[in-house]
Amino acid sequence: MNILVTGGTGYIGSHTVVELLNRGEQVVIVDNLSNSYDNVIDRIESICGRHPDFVKADVRDFKKMEAVFAQYDFDAVIHFAGSKAVGESVAKPLLYYRNNLESTWVLVELMKKYNVPSIIFSSSATVYGETDLVPIKEDTEYRCTNPYGRTKMINELFLQDIVAAHPGISAICLRYFNPIGAHASGLIGEDPQGIPNNLMPYITQVAIGKLKMLSVFGNDYPTHDGTGVRDYIHVVDLAKGHLAAVDYVRQNQASGFLAVNLGTGRGYSVLDLVHTFSRVSGKDIPYQLTERRPGDIATCYADPSKAKELFCWETKLDLQKMCEDSWRWQSKNPTGYKR
Ligand code: NAD
Ligand code: UFG
Repeated sequence: MNILVTGGTGYIGSHTVVELLNRGEQVVIVDNLSNSYDNVIDRIESICGRHPDFVKADVRDFKKMEAVFAQYDFDAVIHFAGSKAVGESVAKPLLYYRNNLESTWVLVELMKKYNVPSIIFSSSATVYGETDLVPIKEDTEYRCTNPYGRTKMINELFLQDIVAAHPGISAICLRYFNPIGAHASGLIGEDPQGIPNNLMPYITQVAIGKLKMLSVFGNDYPTHDGTGVRDYIHVVDLAKGHLAAVDYVRQNQASGFLAVNLGTGRGYSVLDLVHTFSRVSGKDIPYQLTERRPGDIATCYADPSKAKELFCWETKLDLQKMCEDSWRWQSKNPTGYKR
């Protein structure tokens, strides 16, 4: 299949491109490198022995994107490109609404014009927001708590309306839980700009000595050790979830609109992660217990049964492997992709 991957040099996109190339798909990446580096392409080639086509462009640039659609005869679009920091979205909602909504709009316009039948969209468990019903099923109502989450929700609603009006287009919104880990080669991984907001990159940067101490946000949650519980999923399992979705649309033309969780179905606490990481890396992770982070919830994990039933996909890699691979990536690349 000929697949357009937007945001394909980013964290989840690059791992997905590797899995697509490894099984022989043709891949064209479009990325504006606003949150990634062009040397990711060489790393992908080192892993797969194949070079994906790469176009440096903003997905919102209709003219440039039209040239890409005209050049390639795509069978599907996997749309990762977007802005993803919750805190930044509160401070800069205009940037988030523009980047995250306009990009999908441009893609769908061009899919209609060039008869591309399927889009697989990066949604997020953030659309569930403050739910206290775990494990979380896909029919749980939207309760987003920040602009970033609302851009994901609006994209989902937009795609539902498009699919309803245009039966030739199908859309799958994959709701990711908490991706961590890296490719086992240690060649690609997560490279956040500035001080990480998310737990795993913060831990790995403490382990490498870039940051002094982890703050554990709250130890008075109703969880087994008082710290927040999340559904951490290995990024390679997540990438394979996209291949399973591609297979699904290939086998079920005009499959309509679907929202599907990608998670393990298991929750681990902040301290579970800290202790497992320390054990596998041999590194002490000093931490202090601090106040809860505003907007955080106690517990969030997926009911992954819909993905299993529809896509025959389930996760294979456990927390130990997630920590080993995160540590390999960080220790082999102390400054990330920066040369
Ligand atoms: P990332 O920032 O590493 O990758 C996104 C890529 O998109 C980057 O390479 C960036 O340069 C590119 N990009 C952004 N705006 C663009 C534009 N207008 N045109 C072209 N390229 C553009 O993020 P990621 O962690 O790989 O996330 C991928 C997707 O998954 C995002 O949509 C994100 O919201 C979603 N998601 C991520 C997580 C997570 O925890 N990482 C969880 C749930 C959902
Ligand atoms: N945490 C700490 N210290 C830190 C960072 C995080 O204790 O320095 C805790 C949080 O309080 C939470 C857990 O670690 O209990 C996980 O926090 P993350 O920031 O890693 O992840 P979140 O679950 O808050 O959110 C992430 C993404 C969202 C996405 C969501 C579900 O940031 O965009 O996963 O996919 F929506």
